Amino acid sequence: MDEDHRIAADQLRSARWFAPDDLRSFGHRSRLMQLGYAEEEFLNRPIIGILNTWSEINSCHGHFRERAQDVKRGVQMAGGFALEMPSLSVDESFTKPTSMLYRNMLAMETEEMIRSHPFDGVVLMGGCDKTTPGLVMGAITAGVPMIYLPAGPMLRGHYAGRILGSGSDAWKFWDERRAGNISDAEWLGIQGGIARSVGTCMTMGTASTMTAITDAMGLTLPGASSIPAPDSGHQRMSSECGRRIVDMVWEGLTPDRIVTDAAVRNAAIVAMATGCSTNAVVHLIAMARRAGVDLTLDDLDALGRTTPLVANVRPSGKDYLMEDFFYAGGLRALMKQMEERLDTSCLTVTGRTLGENLDGAEVYNDDVIRPLSNPVYHEGSLAVLRGNLCPDGAVIKPAACDPKFHVHEGPALVFDSYPEMKKAVDDENLDVTPDHVMVLRNAGPLGGPGMPEWGMLPLPKALVRQGHRDMLRISDARMSGTSYGACVLHVAPESFVGGPLALLRTGDMVRMDLPARRLDMLVDEDELERRRAAWVRPEPKFERGWGWMFSRHVGQADTGCDFDYLERGHGAAAGEPDIF
Ligand code: FES
Repeated sequence: MDEDHRIAADQLRSARWFAPDDLRSFGHRSRLMQLGYAEEEFLNRPIIGILNTWSEINSCHGHFRERAQDVKRGVQMAGGFALEMPSLSVDESFTKPTSMLYRNMLAMETEEMIRSHPFDGVVLMGGCDKTTPGLVMGAITAGVPMIYLPAGPMLRGHYAGRILGSGSDAWKFWDERRAGNISDAEWLGIQGGIARSVGTCMTMGTASTMTAITDAMGLTLPGASSIPAPDSGHQRMSSECGRRIVDMVWEGLTPDRIVTDAAVRNAAIVAMATGCSTNAVVHLIAMARRAGVDLTLDDLDALGRTTPLVANVRPSGKDYLMEDFFYAGGLRALMKQMEERLDTSCLTVTGRTLGENLDGAEVYNDDVIRPLSNPVYHEGSLAVLRGNLCPDGAVIKPAACDPKFHVHEGPALVFDSYPEMKKAVDDENLDVTPDHVMVLRNAGPLGGPGMPEWGMLPLPKALVRQGHRDMLRISDARMSGTSYGACVLHVAPESFVGGPLALLRTGDMVRMDLPARRLDMLVDEDELERRRAAWVRPEPKFERGWGWMFSRHVGQADTGCDFDYLERGHGAAAGEPDIF
């Protein structure tokens, strides 16, 4: 950038905390000196907040304490001053009932901690599923220069000469165990081998999908999302984040200049090409709306119909994992290959365009990153269904379900709660056929609560023992990005608020026509009207605390499940009032 366009030190946001000769600023300077810093270290320098979602109970972010030191090294080299701040570590594995209940808490915390502290720029450290959208949503609203540091995928899993993929293989082997085909010793071996390093799930699950989306949107260093967590390149990328954020501050490169309509569209196309997690729909819409970009389910369906799936990475791809994807050239190589479909003029955190960032990128293994002429699937990462069961939409991943279910009609088998469903599927005498359509309701944003990842409903034991491994399933829940099968998800409006799913009864015929994008219950309108009149709204799930607030403000899946009062345009723009 031209020196004339760089901001001056007295224009730094942090100068409002440290420059004035008044009592309040005296206190701020004095308290940094209390921490052992001299004025020379922090005055007239960009102050960089490192928002770190490390915690001892977030196994995916186990390396973040060390990586924060790498970021600091970079900030210092570039003449900035870094302060690390802990952020809510929304981990996917341990959080009950679901981490999604806390995505908006992280988004709100991020926005408020940036707004209320003297940060000129921030490095956001996240990766495990909800941490990426949570951090990015909050930082977009806060509006200071930011760069996203993705945790990176863990190494491939291994057991007894077999390669194991996060999630996908756990579900597969669990079905085999339920069918009596896996011994205790084998199960223990799989348990120890499936997650053998720090880092996020190494299939193209929600974590890798969301970090790829952030990368494609221009919010990470180019290709950063593909670097495996334990790779030394990940440390170097971390220190480069530190160096780069300091320059972004001087350049005034704020997220509103990066997260544009075109950048969001690029991210959606790249998501489709990677065979993204269905969770991408909810989070991408929420992130886009924070930036004032009105991305809809129909936009995503249109892109899903025309974007070939070229990343041969499980679960949508057949053979490979994120480590292979990195060695094959990673996300830069995939985007280079799709360049003609992307808007390469988009500005990125590097200060250069996406096109410039892709210069020199190439594919080193065209079985992992397929050419457009030989994709894994010509279309079908995501499809959006509508019909009398889901007037505001539902989502399915065609590439991950058996094609025989693409057009399917069968009797509904309806469950009102997860425990009820679980009891039934474990009953070997359950009256169920492979044609049945299993339905779980009260699992949406309010009903779950928090829209848990229950959407890959377990197959009834009776069918598993007969050798069946897929059936049509419908819910207002989400499913893990590492899941697979004929699962219709995110039914909106959800049943808990009176969506039509609430009216369905066991035995009603249900029809899905995926090519026509339809999902309907074959029940006549008069009967539905009678059922609607008799429907009773369930009692609220929470009477206090975060859940109470969540229940009052969360939106439905088709609009991204953000809180109404956090959406862009609600009230004044973020900023610290002058009186403080
Ligand atoms: Fe953290 Fe999968 S559990 S990314």
